[in-house]
Amino acid sequence: MAEDVAEGERYGRLVATALIMFSQKQNSPHRADVGKMLVHSGYRRRGLARRLLDALEASARDHDRTLLMLDTETGSAGEALYRANGWVSFGVVPGHAYTPDSVPKPTTFFYKVIDPQT
Ligand SMILES: CC(C)(COP(=O)(O)OP(=O)(O)OC[C@H]1O[C@@H](n2cnc3c(N)ncnc32)[C@H](O)[C@@H]1OP(=O)(O)O)[C@@H](O)C(=O)NCCC(=O)NCCS
Repeated sequence: MAEDVAEGERYGRLVATALIMFSQKQNSPHRADVGKMLVHSGYRRRGLARRLLDALEASARDHDRTLLMLDTETGSAGEALYRANGWVSFGVVPGHAYTPDSVPKPTTFFYKVIDPQT
């Protein structure tokens, strides 16, 4: 498939991304970080991010990862997404990250425990 795209035989559109990063540390073989969750502005509120989260959780299970972590800007669509999908917030850090126009904004930190059986 990737080869077909490279050769121009298939045409598609990338409309959403997400990343799962498995911890390489000795003390956390059960843990992974989620990041780079982004849905194209013309494709939002159609359940794509929810489907990506489901896929990330399936990937976590496949790799025996039972604790997922992430953070997002407080008050953002991302925060609403994670709250709606069973993520637990455990704190807000004021002024944690700068916006592209250099305004410091708070970040909310989340975790989710993954049941290896489901
Ligand atoms: C956050 C983001 C990834 C959500 O993607 P999406 O595909 O629109 O989300 P979904 O359609 O899967 O939404 C699932 C649920 O999350 C919640 N949700 C998602 N976006 C929301 C918003 N803007 N406001 C309120 N709730 C929202 C809702 O509960 C929604 O269910 P519903 O549509 O049935 O009400 C998307 O808005 C985005 O790319 N934003 C910019 C980048 C960003 O903020 N990324 C997160 C950084 S960690």
